[in-house]
Amino acid sequence: MRIGLGCDHGGYNLKLEIIEYLKSKNIEYIDFGANNDKESVDYPVYGEKVANAVISKEVDYGIVCCGTGIGISLAANKVPGIRCAVVSDVFSAKMSRAHNNANMLSLGERVLGRGLALEIVDAWLNTEFEGDRHLKRVNMISEIEKKHNK
Ligand code: RB5
Repeated sequence: MRIGLGCDHGGYNLKLEIIEYLKSKNIEYIDFGANNDKESVDYPVYGEKVANAVISKEVDYGIVCCGTGIGISLAANKVPGIRCAVVSDVFSAKMSRAHNNANMLSLGERVLGRGLALEIVDAWLNTEFEGDRHLKRVNMISEIEKKHNK
């Protein structure tokens, strides 16, 4: 499994924690920036970069961070085929994989402590999509996308 990572300045330090977690589990990753928390940068740039890598299959899943997790997820979700879930608890992390087949996870550094954030990442990466009735609903999301992208 290979993970694409991205953040703005507001999510940079949480991304570093996630990198340490991935290294400890021997999970491959590609870091698409940003590269420090000093320079103010624009979260849509990094949300789109990771989303593109997921869609092109350069990575299997994306994890992105900004101050709240909201802005970078909104940007990622504009890329057709992306289902990026902003998550602040372990139950929603599991459900976003099991029921929604989320292919990106978004976290807020200013919202979450390190411990909870890494529990969320662990739960998210270790939960499979259940398919079945949920597949029909996920496909319906794709249909909405197609209808509006004409
Ligand atoms: C940056 O200050 C902040 O707005 C950004 O990290 C994020 O929280 C936006 O949704």
